[in-house]
Amino acid sequence: MAPARVIAIVFAMDAEARPLIDALGLAPNPRAFARVAGSVPMRCHSGRTAEGADVHVVTSGTCERHGVCNVGTVGAALSTYETCASLKPDVIVNAGTAGGFAKRGGRVGDVYLATTFKNHDRRIPIPGYDAYGVGEYEAWPTPKLAAMLGCKRGTVCTGNSLDATETCRKLLDEHDACVKEMEAAAIAHVAHLFKVPMIAVKTITDIVDGPHATQEEFLANLASAAAALKDVLPKVIAFIDGRDMNDL
Ligand code: ADE
Repeated sequence: MAPARVIAIVFAMDAEARPLIDALGLAPNPRAFARVAGSVPMRCHSGRTAEGADVHVVTSGTCERHGVCNVGTVGAALSTYETCASLKPDVIVNAGTAGGFAKRGGRVGDVYLATTFKNHDRRIPIPGYDAYGVGEYEAWPTPKLAAMLGCKRGTVCTGNSLDATETCRKLLDEHDACVKEMEAAAIAHVAHLFKVPMIAVKTITDIVDGPHATQEEFLANLASAAAALKDVLPKVIAFIDGRDMNDL
């Protein structure tokens, strides 16, 4: 497989991406999605590494009606579709914040490199649709990257809610979730459509099975988790840059 020369980092929220955009000195790229007539919500900042790879940081943009970031699977699928169609990346890195699980060793501030992606909130108990609902995809194999980072690994489960009902919690346990967030499985689905290798790096803002209200813990730790992404993602980019994708 050819070396990665175009690297797309896909985030949901501006606040998650901003420290990395600033650290890499990326510039707004208003032409990135010009192939689409009319306005699209996702936004792109672009630049080039010293080794010559193009780096695009794509965020899901702001909802026109509600004035908040387009978090969740719809925004993620739209922005990943446009990223694949317009920017033709060699690899997609989904980056963002997430909930962790104390019972599986997770702590606030942890960095996870995904092994597997599943949806935990698409329950369709009809043969065939049940597996479609879970929509499981494997992350692109990254044993050397994981060893270099020395980070935790595990299954990333996606759903469109920040909180977790009792049913969610039961399914998250059945799926052996180490990470709970709101985009990765949708991004994996679109990446698979376009046959683009995809990995995910998530930093933990809150503990799903911990004592604190998720939204409070998430908001309290969002800035430090985004700062952690700003520290770890340049290492990921440098590792991928120009490397054969079968050698990650
Ligand atoms: N993003 C950060 N924490 C999360 C959680 N607990 N669930 C879903 N998305 C998240």
